[in-house]
Amino acid sequence: MKHSVLVTKRIYPEAFAYLREHVDVEYHDSETSYSPDELLQRLKGKDGTVSQLTDHFTAEVINALPKLRVIANVAVGFDNIDLEAATKRNVIVTNTPGVLTETTADFAFALLMAAARRIAEADRFLRAGRWREWNVDLLCGHDVYGSTLGLIGMGRIGQSVARRGRGFQMRLLYHDATRQDSQSEKELGIEFVPLETLLRESDYISLHVPLLPETEKLIGAGELSQMKKTAVLVNTSRGPVVDEQALAEALANGTIAAAGLDVFEREPEVEPKLLKLENVVLAPHIASASTETRKKMCRMAAENAVAALEGRRPENLVNTSLG
Ligand code: GLV
Repeated sequence: MKHSVLVTKRIYPEAFAYLREHVDVEYHDSETSYSPDELLQRLKGKDGTVSQLTDHFTAEVINALPKLRVIANVAVGFDNIDLEAATKRNVIVTNTPGVLTETTADFAFALLMAAARRIAEADRFLRAGRWREWNVDLLCGHDVYGSTLGLIGMGRIGQSVARRGRGFQMRLLYHDATRQDSQSEKELGIEFVPLETLLRESDYISLHVPLLPETEKLIGAGELSQMKKTAVLVNTSRGPVVDEQALAEALANGTIAAAGLDVFEREPEVEPKLLKLENVVLAPHIASASTETRKKMCRMAAENAVAALEGRRPENLVNTSLG
């Protein structure tokens, strides 16, 4: 008998076709997530699931599903899954790293540029019919080229953003829980500094850490107050890494100059104060959203699910103690 898999939300057709060749699929071909109750009901009796970051796998959910063997998340992040509970119950968790690195780094840099050069604000200005003539100080932003970029988190995506920064002749500072080896620091042209130094000296600060208890509200009022008044903060990691209230206040009162945000504390809600500000560029969690990349992420998750159910070690195993 074939294994049964729940696909919790729409995925690209190629990935669905792959799954259908290998397993029995229940497909929720929808843009809307199941409610927590419905998710649980649909998962009952399933061997695996291809899930998305809007599905919450709490310990309670995991423990109520004795048959479940794999959660294949279509995302590099997996903070929507209680990893400890999954591991305890021998449920394999997989993610989709690598394929989204460059796309996400592109988007982080796009947000950086947009915030620095006020592109979204300029677009709104023009469309509102407010453009009268060329002026020497019309919508002036700040230079990116030759400035200092501070990267918090130096995993794959942080490194790719560093490479882009290098192309812009930026001075590259970084801070992370683990330091890169000196060869990698040299190749990337990055300098390890304490967080305080990074906050104080960077013109642009971009976040590339996973959401963990240690990184929750990593950037709050205290950290924002240490940044330059001209600083720009970019967040493509996870919303709760930044205290959104504190950031809105810092942007409103000029503690920092601008921000570019792709992720929020309570998605899809956005702190109302942020929506009123001109100096923040807002995007609906789309940093990895190129068609090419999203196709690869879906396919990767499907392959991970099938591998786990066929007793092979999935390529992107998160809870490696089960491998
Ligand atoms: C998206 O945020 C992801 O984790 O892939």
